[in-house]
Order: sequence, then structure tokens, then C-alpha cells
Amino acid sequence: MKVRDIRLETLDCVSIRFEVPPTLKPEYEFLPGQHLTLKTDLEGKEVRRSYSICASPLEDELRVAVKQVVDGAFSSFAKETLKIGDELDVMTPMGNFTLETSPQNRKHYVAFAAGSGITPVISMLKSVMRNELTSHFTLFYGNRTTESIIFRDEIEDLKNEYLTRLSVHHVLSQEDLGADLFLGRIDVEKSRMFCTKLLDISDVDAFYLCGPEAMIFSVKDTLLDLGVDEKIVHFELFTTPGAAVASSKNWSPDPKLTASKITVTLDGNTFTYNHLHPTETILDAASKSVADLPFACKGGVCCTCKAKLLQGEVEMEVCYGLEKEEVEAGYILTCQAHPKTEEVVLSFDE
Ligand code: FES
Repeated sequence: MKVRDIRLETLDCVSIRFEVPPTLKPEYEFLPGQHLTLKTDLEGKEVRRSYSICASPLEDELRVAVKQVVDGAFSSFAKETLKIGDELDVMTPMGNFTLETSPQNRKHYVAFAAGSGITPVISMLKSVMRNELTSHFTLFYGNRTTESIIFRDEIEDLKNEYLTRLSVHHVLSQEDLGADLFLGRIDVEKSRMFCTKLLDISDVDAFYLCGPEAMIFSVKDTLLDLGVDEKIVHFELFTTPGAAVASSKNWSPDPKLTASKITVTLDGNTFTYNHLHPTETILDAASKSVADLPFACKGGVCCTCKAKLLQGEVEMEVCYGLEKEEVEAGYILTCQAHPKTEEVVLSFDE
């Protein structure tokens, strides 16, 4: 897809709008909160990264935000080199961290975001404000300073436009706005104060958390501790691309299992290969042996590599991206899955 527009959102964040060819529009329809996986070659190496869509489906644009990270190959390329008119491979929208709006809804949504974690949240926020005329949205948004607030002007404009239905609380770790409550990071203590002093949590229909691991689990623990039903707490972890997630260190291979026969169905084709190295994930081993399987983050977050387990057992190192119901229905993340039985059958088509 051609890059139609690039906007500098903060000193280290750009948003990129794509030109969606009219014939592809139906395939690129998305729900608020979903992401796109972008693919390109950088210095002869294929690089894939997932970025959340920051536009609302009610706006006629497909736009993602990319925050530059230290040593981030793709994010630096996007910030420094990418130009309007360049082309990138863009996979169709994916992801479970979504908020479906309906004009009939009369709800109160609360989001906790930090840094670039605002990207899917702003899509949700705009969609709720525009499509649910009696719903409320409360946003707690953590950053270092005012300067590092992504979409600062857009959030301000939305606040002014929807004065009675949208509440925004900025929480800054390195700038004092004059109120202790909003100085620091969104941690257990702060989120408890927000939930008890600024919210009536019994009146909240859904919570959306997006940002780094520490923030997500602090807020989630606080909410569960305060008696909030886990089913209404949705979260998406934003990790540095390629970085291992903490709990992956807990996994170790089964010494008794030396090899497994793996059967994979993708786009109607079925392949079989011998999985000889238990430390390899099914995604890596299958991609080497039989076919290019879909992936993006390889960190158990984006779900691009999701498949359904039809036979056998696997063990996942981490599984942040899947909902509990999906795991119960047999879905796995192949970038995190290692075989646990001598025969494993899975499909990307279900
Ligand atoms: S590639 Fe992102 S969860 Fe597997």
C-alpha cells in the first residue's frame, strides 16, 4: 500500500496514513482497537511490526501511529526515512483488543493508557463519542511530560467537543501539573486512588488497559482487588518489538519428547514436518521446514500467528494476546507454542 500521509505527532512519534485501493476497502475494514502488521525489507532483512490503528472506523482513513524506540529498526525507518508515496506491505487488520460500538448503547468506558498505548484507545474513544451519543468515556493517560503526550491536540479538541461525556486525566511522571494525584506513574497506588476517588467503578461497563506490562498488571490487579469482574477488564500489552516478555523464562522443554510430527493447514494447503528441536517454536520450525506462516511480534501479543489446535498438545511460553475463551476453544499462538505430544495437528484456517 502507498503511504498517503505522514504526520509528526510528537518528537519521537509519527502517524502514517495508507492509501487503501477501493477494491481492497472491504478487507481493510477494522474495529476500534485493532492493529496492522507492516512488512518491509531493511538492509536486505525482512522486518515486520504491528502497530495499532489510531483512526476510528467512522473516519475515512487507515492510519497507524509508530513511536520510535531505541535501536528500533522499523520505528527509526518510519520516523527518519519513510516518505509519502513509498510502499509498504500491509496485512489486514487483526487483534482482539476491540470495542464494538452501537448507537443503542448507553455505557461508561474507562481506559488506562501509557505512552504509545494510547493508539488503540484513541480509536475506541473517538468511536464511542461519535457512535454512542449517550455513552461516557474516562481516560487516564500516563506520559513523562506534556511534550510527550501523543495526540495531545486531538485529545484536547475531543475534550472540548464532548465536554459532558469525555473526561481525560493526564498523569505525568516528570512534570508537575500542580496536583500530586496526577504526578508519577500509573501504578497500583495511583490506580487505586483513581478508582476510588474519581470513579464509581460499579457504574463502569468495560475497562481497557494498554501500555507496558508493569502498568497493565498494576491496574488489572487493582481492579480485581476492588471487586471488578475480570470479564470486563480488557488489555493489550505494548512491548518493545522483539523483546522477550518476562514470563517466557518460566518455560522449559519436556526432556522425554525428542521429536513430534506436526501437521499444519494454511490457506487450504496441508503440510507435515518433523519437529526435532523442542526449544524451537512451532512457528519457527514450520516456517523453516514447510511454509511461511503469518507472524508479526513473536512476543505472544499480536495474535497474527494464531491457529487452532485440532489434535495433540502444545505448551505456550506466554499467551497475552488470546482471550480466555479462545484458549478454551483450542486456539494457540504458534510463535509461543512448543509440541508436548508426538503428534500435533493445527490449522490457521479455522
Ligand atoms: S506473532 Fe504476535 S503473537 Fe505470535
